[in-house]
Amino acid sequence: MTFPYEALAAFAQQLLERSGVPSGKANLVAVSLTASNLRGVDSHGLQLLPQYLEQIKAGNIQPESDGHVISENGACLLFDGERAFGQHVAAVCSDHAVRLSQAHGLGMAVARESNHYGAAAFWSQRIADAGCIGITICNASSLVAPWQGKQPRLGTNPISVALPGPRRWLLDMATTTVAMNKIVNASLSGRETIPPGWAMDAEGNPTTSTAVAIKGLLMPLGGYKGSGLAMMVEILCAVLSGGAMSTEVGGVYNRAKPMRTSQMFLSIDPTRFLPMEDFVERMTRLVAMMKSSAPAEGFDEVMVAGDPEWRIEEQRRRDGIPLSDGAWTALREAAVSLNVPLPSPAS
Ligand SMILES: NC(=O)c1ccc[n+]([C@@H]2O[C@H](COP(=O)([O-])OP(=O)(O)OC[C@H]3O[C@@H](n4cnc5c(N)ncnc54)[C@H](O)[C@@H]3O)[C@@H](O)[C@H]2O)c1
Repeated sequence: MTFPYEALAAFAQQLLERSGVPSGKANLVAVSLTASNLRGVDSHGLQLLPQYLEQIKAGNIQPESDGHVISENGACLLFDGERAFGQHVAAVCSDHAVRLSQAHGLGMAVARESNHYGAAAFWSQRIADAGCIGITICNASSLVAPWQGKQPRLGTNPISVALPGPRRWLLDMATTTVAMNKIVNASLSGRETIPPGWAMDAEGNPTTSTAVAIKGLLMPLGGYKGSGLAMMVEILCAVLSGGAMSTEVGGVYNRAKPMRTSQMFLSIDPTRFLPMEDFVERMTRLVAMMKSSAPAEGFDEVMVAGDPEWRIEEQRRRDGIPLSDGAWTALREAAVSLNVPLPSPAS
């Protein structure tokens, strides 16, 4: 099923409002999830919404909660999410980080007791849209064994960096080969196998079976270096914020305990270092230098981070957003139980 972006965002907002989410927050969550589908990152799009609705019912997401600032000291801000929607915490903390960077050149907000915030890129882009370099990271449910281990202790702990200026380089990556939701997406799309290198079984043996991977472990990005990056995320998010660490974190698919994730938002004002036009010119030149490399055998071009998603976004804005059978079935069931009309498909 393929739908226009606007119809899906409005549908998602109605599902959230009927679940007791105030309309401003419902709009933020709906728009940010649908934006992920628009960029082709379906793993962090509307397939998450039925899970969020269940987390509201379980009391793990408190839709009316706003969270509060615990402390502000120079360029540093500490926030308690009080189990609010992760998207709400992310928007508030991104905006605090921008405000602090306008005053100090750098601004950093760290939140604890938050919830899943979807794709990290939506928040780094929010900072970039305000004219700053935006960096966000967060810890997540432990699905990854530390290198040489076979019991999960780390999350897929994503890192995203976005830049002001013309849309170009935009990094948004899990610190595992892929995000867990890509394996869930393979399952919802009826794909029985996943590429080698994505996951291991529960004993730490590599697997290409989607079903085995869902119950197993994700592969740290580049072996022990991925474990190192995931630890860096835990430190800058959870250790600094005083929040839940490692196995203390719940999960989007876990109803038994609150998620309690920690998130970090860093805003850097590039104009404290060089004029904005120089920054944009130098970035344009740097990207061109990457692309000037002759493509290796089997490829017809060199891409930089963000290229695949900008291209899909252009196409999906025009042709609509396809939802997998599994994602659509879960959304339709939620709509029926909440008495929300279904969106009209793209013509
Ligand atoms: N909220 C959470 O707890 C959480 C946890 C983990 C991941 N995530 C999200 O999962 C999503 C998917 O993460 P992922 O690691 O699977 O993404 P991915 O592997 O698809 O892409 C990672 C990065 O590589 C770039 N890229 C892809 N192909 C490229 C190429 N050929 N050349 C150059 N660059 C290329 C992409 O533009 C992107 O910036 C992200 O949005 C991330 O924020 C969220």
